Formats: sequence, C-alpha cells, structure tokens
Amino acid sequence: MAELIPGVEKAAKSPEKAGKNLLVRMTNIDKYFGKVCALRGVDFEVKRSEILGLVGDNGVGKSTLIKILSGFHLADRGEIYFENKKVKINTPKDAKNLGIETVYQDQALAPHVSISRNVFMGRELTRGLGFMDKKKMDKSSLDVLAKIGLHLKDPEAVVEVLSGGQRQGVAIARVLYFKAKLVILDEPTIALSVKESQQVMDFILQLKEEGISVVFITHNLYHAFQIAERFIVLSHGERLTDVRREDTSIDHLSKIIVTGIHEGK
Ligand SMILES: Nc1ncnc2c1ncn2[C@@H]1O[C@H](COP(=O)(O)OP(=O)(O)O)[C@@H](O)[C@H]1O
Ligand SMILES: [Mg+2]
Repeated sequence: MAELIPGVEKAAKSPEKAGKNLLVRMTNIDKYFGKVCALRGVDFEVKRSEILGLVGDNGVGKSTLIKILSGFHLADRGEIYFENKKVKINTPKDAKNLGIETVYQDQALAPHVSISRNVFMGRELTRGLGFMDKKKMDKSSLDVLAKIGLHLKDPEAVVEVLSGGQRQGVAIARVLYFKAKLVILDEPTIALSVKESQQVMDFILQLKEEGISVVFITHNLYHAFQIAERFIVLSHGERLTDVRREDTSIDHLSKIIVTGIHEGK
C-alpha cells in the first residue's frame, strides 16, 4: 500500500537516525476478542516530542490499540519497541515503568479530595518518618499545573469544584510531574464544551513543549487537526494511512475515514 510514513521512508536510507527519533514502535499487532477481530496487522509509531492523532470512526480499534500499549490488553500477535528496545508490556505497571501514562476521560480523579492530593495520588511525597510532605505537594502541584498553563490558586480546593477542562488539566499535570515520556489521551475532549476542549488542547501543546510525546485519540477531526502533527487512521482494525499534517487536510482525512479508502491527497 502506498503510504506516507516519514519515519519509515527515512529508515530505508538511515535506519539508525530514524530509529533514534522513534519513541514507540508497534509492529504487526493483532487482537481478537473471541471471534471479533479488533486489530489486524497494525503498525504504529510515535516519535519523540510528537503529537500523534490516532483517528477513525467508532469501533475501529483505537482504544484497543492503546490499551495494548498501556498494558490493559495483551496483543495476540506483534511486537512493541520502546526507545529502540523490544519490550513486553503485560500490565499497566509495566507501561508506567517505561514512562507510558494514560489519561482517561473519567480519569480516576477523586472528586472529594484536594487538587494537590489528586496530583500525588498513590505517589505521595513524604519527609522524615514517612509523614506526608503536604507543603511540598501543595506547592509542587500548583507549579506543575502552571507549567501546562493552568493557573490555580488553592491547592486544597476539592477537584469537584473544577470544570471538566480543569480536571483534565489535573490529570495531565500529574503525568507531567511524574515524568511520563508518552502520554495517551483517549477522547479527552468528548464530554467537554468548546472552550474547555480548547483548554485541554492547550495543555497537550504544553506537554509537547516539555518534550513529551502524545497520542491524541479522537474522532473529532477539527480537534485533531488543531494540534496533531501526524495522523494514523484506523479503519476496521487496520491501519489505513499514516500522514503528516502538511500532506493532508480535514476533508482528506474525513474522506479516508468515511470511505475506508486511502487514495492519495
Ligand atoms: N473488552 C472487549 N470485549 C469484546 N470486544 C471488544 C472489547 N473492547 C473492544 N471490543 C470490540 O473491538 C472493536 C474495537 O473497539 P475499540 O477499540 O473500542 O474501538 P474505538 O476505540 O476505535 O471506538 C469493536 O468491535 C469493539 O466492540
Ligand atoms: Mg475508543
């Protein structure tokens, strides 16, 4: 299939150079749920500090693919390379240990607990005899939120009072603080207002500024097109195309998704 894969094209000429630029490479991934084939022979790459848009209609396998990368599902076939090393990701913990973090829509934030405690949930900072270092957590949480452009004043406020967009910000700040190398966001704007969606996309741009790679899954091409530099389109469990933003358009992507055919520009 004639595909536009910048990294792979270069790989033929200079495998080493292209390889260094890749953070993640998944090859030939198959996944079945009983008789349902969710993914078939999928190749997937994410470069360093890149925002990749993983797009396609509902039910085409986007979530399944990233759940394999984040250790929630095991692939039936295929390999995963992270920083050029072959890895086995059998559990969510394996993924986290590599620096792969997933931000879910419902996000596992505790609504009745403070912003600061939510940023550090499960990874609390301590001092001395194992006492929690509340002061440090309060300060660090505001600092890391400010880094993604979310300027909040009260680290003790409960998450419940925040808007949907701000909550996403807390979840995103958390993965930034803990030095994720790859952040996966599965439909992060689906339940948000226009303004909140914009805010979340600004947070994502800040992650890139911090040198983090992002997989942004959405079926909203207007959102994807605003921030993603490259798009991988899935259709019925297969990768249809891989195209840079400068080589495509919203119309072009939308046509590929609707027809299931990649017919060039
Ligand atoms: N846990 C599961 N059990 C059975 N079938 C599943 C499961 N997860 C996903 N599927 C099926 O796999 C296919 C791909 O789903 P999914 O990855 O959620 O698509 P997307 O995220 O693109 O909407 C669909 O046919 C879906 O019904
Ligand atoms: Mg999904």
